[in-house]
Amino acid sequence: MKKGLIICCIVGLFSSCYNDKGDKLYPAPIIITNSCDTTTITYAHDIAPIINTYCNNCHNTGGSGAGFGDFSTCAGVQTVANNGSLLTDINFTPTSRHQSMPQGGTKLSDCNINKITRWVHLGAQNN
Ligand code: HEC
Repeated sequence: MKKGLIICCIVGLFSSCYNDKGDKLYPAPIIITNSCDTTTITYAHDIAPIINTYCNNCHNTGGSGAGFGDFSTCAGVQTVANNGSLLTDINFTPTSRHQSMPQGGTKLSDCNINKITRWVHLGAQNN
């Protein structure tokens, strides 16, 4: 009787050791190495914040208004997305007609360019 109990304990000990494997109970945290996920891109969530930060001080109607169009609305950005100038300009590949944007500023980060590119390729939707 006593022996049986000990064996039970030993078996229990081993099985609990197995089940307690830390990597099974607590999987390694997923480290996000690519913080620039372009799987799902929406205008409101991904594009508007970039435009508001880097472009709207020139591309608006009320303010300096020096830029082409009004980027405070999605429609304004869709215009340049659809005529091709948006991607040309943010990639700093100016042509005789198109300039590098932000004008006089530094190129957007690769991450931001990737997001805008993806949004355009997805149809430049107002979503
Ligand atoms: C310092 C002011 C300024 C900033 C900031 C700026 N722009 Fe512009 N942008 C201009 C001006 C001025 C024009 C008109 C240039 C012309 O037509 O010769 C223009 C024109 C454009 C055009 C259309 C003209 C063309 O090349 O066909 C696009 C597209 C554009 N900007 C995109 C952007 C984007 C995207 C940003 C933000 C990443 C941005 N701009 C930031 C001043 C600015």
